[in-house]
Order: sequence, then C-alpha cells, then structure tokens
Amino acid sequence: MYRRIHVASGTRARKPDVVAVAIFAGSRKLQAKYATLDRQAGGALSQAVKRPEFSAAAGVVTAAYADRGVRRLFLVGLGDPKKFTGTVLRRASAGVLRAAFAASVRRLDWRLGPGLNGRLPAAEAGRAIGDGLAIAGFKFNAFRGKIDGSSAHHRGTRDVSQLAVDIDAPMREGVKRSLIVGESVNLARELAATPPNVAHPTHIAATCRAMARRVGLRCTMIQEKRARQLNMGGLLAVGAAGSKPPVLICMEHRPRGKANDRPVLLVGKAVTFDTGGYCLKPPGSMDGMKYDKCGGMAVVGAMHAVAQLKLPVRVVGLIPTAENMVSRRAYRPSDILTMANGVTVEVTNTDAEGRLILADALAYGCKAYRPRAVIDLATLTGGVVVALGRHSAGLFCGDDRLRRHLIEAGEFTGERLWPLPLWDEHREQMRGTHGDLVNSAGRDASPIQGAAFLSHFVGDRAPDAMPDIPWAHIDIAGVSDVKQDSGLYCKGPTGFGVRLLVRLLEKM
Ligand code: BES
Ligand code: MN
Ligand code: ZN
Repeated sequence: MYRRIHVASGTRARKPDVVAVAIFAGSRKLQAKYATLDRQAGGALSQAVKRPEFSAAAGVVTAAYADRGVRRLFLVGLGDPKKFTGTVLRRASAGVLRAAFAASVRRLDWRLGPGLNGRLPAAEAGRAIGDGLAIAGFKFNAFRGKIDGSSAHHRGTRDVSQLAVDIDAPMREGVKRSLIVGESVNLARELAATPPNVAHPTHIAATCRAMARRVGLRCTMIQEKRARQLNMGGLLAVGAAGSKPPVLICMEHRPRGKANDRPVLLVGKAVTFDTGGYCLKPPGSMDGMKYDKCGGMAVVGAMHAVAQLKLPVRVVGLIPTAENMVSRRAYRPSDILTMANGVTVEVTNTDAEGRLILADALAYGCKAYRPRAVIDLATLTGGVVVALGRHSAGLFCGDDRLRRHLIEAGEFTGERLWPLPLWDEHREQMRGTHGDLVNSAGRDASPIQGAAFLSHFVGDRAPDAMPDIPWAHIDIAGVSDVKQDSGLYCKGPTGFGVRLLVRLLEKM
C-alpha cells in the first residue's frame, strides 16, 4: 500500500519537478490567470493548448516541456465545464497522480485554483483532490512473489518513494483531510483484497483488535461461546463449517462529552469467503467471493477514520464475520435457527447467509446500544447488480431524513446510492412454514427480500413491525470491487462506503 503522498505545507519554496494546471475543454485559449506561469515556462503552456492533438477531456493529462524556467508541466483536462463535478475532479486528480508516478516526479506543484474558475467550493475541491491522490495511490502487493506484476495502472511506480504535493492554500485542508480518510479507505481495500486462506474470521478479528488499540477505539469480541449464550443462531450456523470460528467484532468510538449519547450503529457483513454452503455456488459465481467481506471492511475503515479524525459523535461498529463453507458441521437447507431476538428462521438457501449473520448483529446491536440510527452495509445479493449495475449501490431506507443525508453524502464522495422500495408486503413474503421466517423466498425481488428479512431484526418493534428508528440497508454487491482498472480504482476492491459513512458522520 502506498502511504507516501504528503501535502507540502506552505510556501512553495522548493522547486517542483512538475507544475500541473487545470484546463476546461472548449477553449483553445489559456486562462488569463495562468499568464505568469506561461511566461515562466517560455510560453510552453499556451503553445501546448493550441496544438491540434491537445485534449482537455476530463481526466486526460498532457505533458509539456520548456528548456528553461518551469521546465515540465502537466495540463490536466477537466472536460466540459457544464458537466463538471467533484467526481470529474477526483478522477483528474487520480490521473495526475498516475502521471506523476510514471514520470518519477517527487515534488508536484498543483496550481488548480485559477483553472477551476470557482466551479466547486474550495473545501469540496480539496476533498476531491485528496480522494483522487489517496485512492489512486493504492496498490496491493503484499502477495507478490518473484514476478513483478505491476498493471498499467501502476507501471513504473516502483522507485518512487515520496511525492510531495503543493496545493493552493484554500484547498489544502480538504486535501489533508481526504488523505487521512484515504488511508482508511485503503485499509478497507487491503483487508478486502487479502485472500481467504489468510483473511479468515480470526485474522480479521486480530487485525481489528490491533487497529483499535493503535487509534484508540474500544474493541471487544463476541466469540462462539458467548454467541451461543446470546442465541446468535445465524452467526453460529453460517460459521459452523468455516476453517476458523465465527466472531462478532465490536468497536466503539466514544468521544469525550458524547460518551453517553445514543450512538450511530454501523453493521457490516464480513463473510471471508462465500462458497454458498450446501447450496453451492457454481465456479463462475464463486470467483470474487473473497470480496464478500467488503461491507464489514467498510465499517472497519469508517471506524478507523472516525477515530483518526476524532469526530464528535459516538459510533459503534459491529462486524459479524464467518466463512460460509461445506463440511459435516455445515448448516443445511431446512435447518431452523433461533436468532438473537428469538425469531426463528427456516433455512431455504445456505447461500443467503449474509442476512443471517447481519440479523444477529443488528438485533444484538439494537438491544445492547440503543442506537439513534442504524446503517448496515453488505454484499448481499447478486440481484442488486442485475437491477442497478455497477455504478450505484442499492439503498433501502424508510426514514426520509437519513435517506436524504445518505444520498447527499454519496453525491459528495462519488459513491452513488439509489433507493429501492421496502413495504410490508415484502416483509410478508419472508414468512416461513414451520419457522417464523425463511432466509430466501425465491427469485422475486431478491435484493428487497434481503432488506425485508433484516427489517425483522431492527428497532424496538422488531419483529412485529417496520423499524421505528432510522435504519438504512445498503447493498454494495455491485460496487465493492471493480473487474478492471477504471476511473479512480485499480482492479480489485474499492473500499466503497468508507468515505460515504465518514461524510455522513461529519454532517451529524
Ligand atoms: N455474497 C452473495 C451476493 C453476491 C453476489 C455478492 C454476487 C457479490 C456478487 C450472497 O451471499 C448470495 O449468495 N446471495 C444470493 C441470495 C440468494 C441465494 C437468495 C444471490 O444473490 O444469488
Ligand atoms: Mn451467499
Ligand atoms: Zn454472501
């Protein structure tokens, strides 16, 4: 993982290797505000913009050279000014970082201010730039052996040990903050990418414990024995055949003065590998199932960020973690489980395991912490990918205020959420024959079934009525990883949810 970008503080005293400028598409003329710089570069900037092959399309980085003064420049395209958003800037920033690494740049002076033309508030622009730098700087090479496998995304990046970025003063704080959050995003990505033979439930728990100690979070583990006392039939059943026992990881951020507030409760699914259990997945569908822990890792990342930023809000993060495998100890279709809130569940499909571990965590969390709001994240259904594709997560939230805040936070960070319905009829659909509920009721509306199932485990009125506290379920199956390098991300996990949760909690 790269953690080698820092924001130079202040004066631009040292000479940069490259000066980067931002250019909107549409005009072949240089912004007047860059005139001084252009003169320092002997006119290289204004000449470059006039060349027919020059493109200011969003995210395109063009190099220009001068033989004296400012010798090397990056012209960073921002595309159509009317279509300009934080997401465009985030991607452009990622492009700059990649270009800088490829050219072994050690000190980059990013003069974005004049080019931005006030199209984004400076604080917001700073956050977007920091996001781009932090996220594009990630590379997972913990398991590289003897063959260098650097992708096009990172080619030539091996020798760069440091990158200092000078940035216009009004954006500096935002960039710094995003670089802190970015470390948390990359922590989530690193854990998500760690393969299932290493990142089993015990490993995830140990990593969380060490992280919690480092950043000052409270951390406790509900192990199998205690889970049995608490009737966590879902967690125990799903984890029964795992190579390591299941655990419920509990982390808490308790800021001074807020220690007795009702907390915000975050819950994330962490199935370290999902074979489907006895309802075994076909090989093609099992590929990528190490990413079935991404909801949980988003919560790990968010807790890390919340502690590092010392946010003045009490937050509890619960991560139920288990490995869904096959063995003589595995749970079966037709088993009836008793859950932490006394609800019984007929297992109709051992591949609908995520809702079982989440249900126990939600029921336990609501009872133990009396949260003021609950948000769960999970790679819960393939159906949400069919419905929404890979450009947004599915959002289920009956509380108008929380839903609005989440969608706004997602627009701010570029992590899109799209609302789907959840009605009493969907809750009815989950009723069982011999138990209270089934964990899967066929193909109809499968992402909604997941939400409907979970709704029986949230709040004081559960299981009889829809949750009475603000609750959101976010199905991230389509966005938790990317299948090839794209935009901000290199092939692999995205850390979706970390920035979203942090933004939401900042606003609370
Ligand atoms: N982890 C999967 C969902 C998933 C699928 C995530 C594809 C990422 C990509 C989940 O546990 C699962 O298997 N869901 C089933 C539910 C069904 C059996 C009711 C699904 O969506 O097919
Ligand atoms: Mn499954
Ligand atoms: Zn799963």
